[in-house]
Amino acid sequence: MIVNRQVLTLDEFTIKQLRDFPNATGELSGLLRDIGLAAKRVNVEVNKAGLVDILGDTGTVNIQGEEVKKMDEFANDQLVGVLRHGINCAGIASEELDDIVVFDDEVSNNSKYICMFDPLDGSSNIDVNVSIGTIFGVYRRVTPKGTPVTMDDFLQAGNKQVAAGYIIYGSSTILVYATKRGVNGFTLDPSIGEYSLSHPDIKCPPTGRIYSVNHGNFFQYEDPVRNYINVCQKKNKSNGGPYTQRYIGSMVADVHRNLVKGGIFMYPGTIDKPNGKLRLLYECNPFAYIVEKAGGKATDGKQRILDIQPKELHERTPFFIGSIEMMEELESFTGKV
Ligand code: AHG
Repeated sequence: MIVNRQVLTLDEFTIKQLRDFPNATGELSGLLRDIGLAAKRVNVEVNKAGLVDILGDTGTVNIQGEEVKKMDEFANDQLVGVLRHGINCAGIASEELDDIVVFDDEVSNNSKYICMFDPLDGSSNIDVNVSIGTIFGVYRRVTPKGTPVTMDDFLQAGNKQVAAGYIIYGSSTILVYATKRGVNGFTLDPSIGEYSLSHPDIKCPPTGRIYSVNHGNFFQYEDPVRNYINVCQKKNKSNGGPYTQRYIGSMVADVHRNLVKGGIFMYPGTIDKPNGKLRLLYECNPFAYIVEKAGGKATDGKQRILDIQPKELHERTPFFIGSIEMMEELESFTGKV
């Protein structure tokens, strides 16, 4: 294999961007590097999951009332550990933990960022060798530097994110992150243990032919959503229908594919669960930020996801995200957002 040494690694890329901003402190780059390191460790364990006795439940139940798998705990511990021992993060909130974690020491109290993450999304897919991922969002703290962070730093609207990203542990391991400067993807090169820029300046195609939704819940959805799904299944020259239905059950994999190929992902509210399943702070806000920065759109069916003011750490929201024209087609049924 001919190796292209011109390809930038994640570190080289962030340093190159830093050079354009002489006043930048490098804290955000450091934070991204820390997350990338934790993800490498998770990646190693995910790849061994079929070999070692790491599958199965620990028997405990997390704050969402779901069984905690060992890999969820491992991924959570890696992220918390790396960020706690680093110098770029003042505190975290995790889907796996019921409360915020404040890194209350002198260095951390002087950090300007907090991070929220879902350490291992789609974890029910681990046992069957299907792609899973890590999702994260980074915010600038609102409390003064030099003090411990508080809940106010975490209950911020998604539009306050300064960066967001995900790592997908799939046929390759890819780290995608977005800042106000755009969205870039890096594939982990196992031969050198580094992420290499593989998807520069990702743009979400304005339209696509893929819709992703849990069809098993079809009769639980409200009429406008059902009517849209019906249209997705019809032959229609103007929208290229019928669309192809793809639903992996790991949002990271479903939204990553739609981001690259064009498409729409939906997790609507149901009769039993009007707010759906997905968590605003750990899953929806990061993806909404990334997809908007790539030219797509994300809503809860009534408003922009990034404008929702969170009331609590673990709140859930209906979620619609994807290519701009497909989102507009959805809105012709659910109402314009
Ligand atoms: P979990 O991490 O508990 O496996 O949840 C995964 C999330 C999300 O990634 C996925 O799109 C959705 O749940 C799937 O839920 P359904 O099985 O209800 O469709």
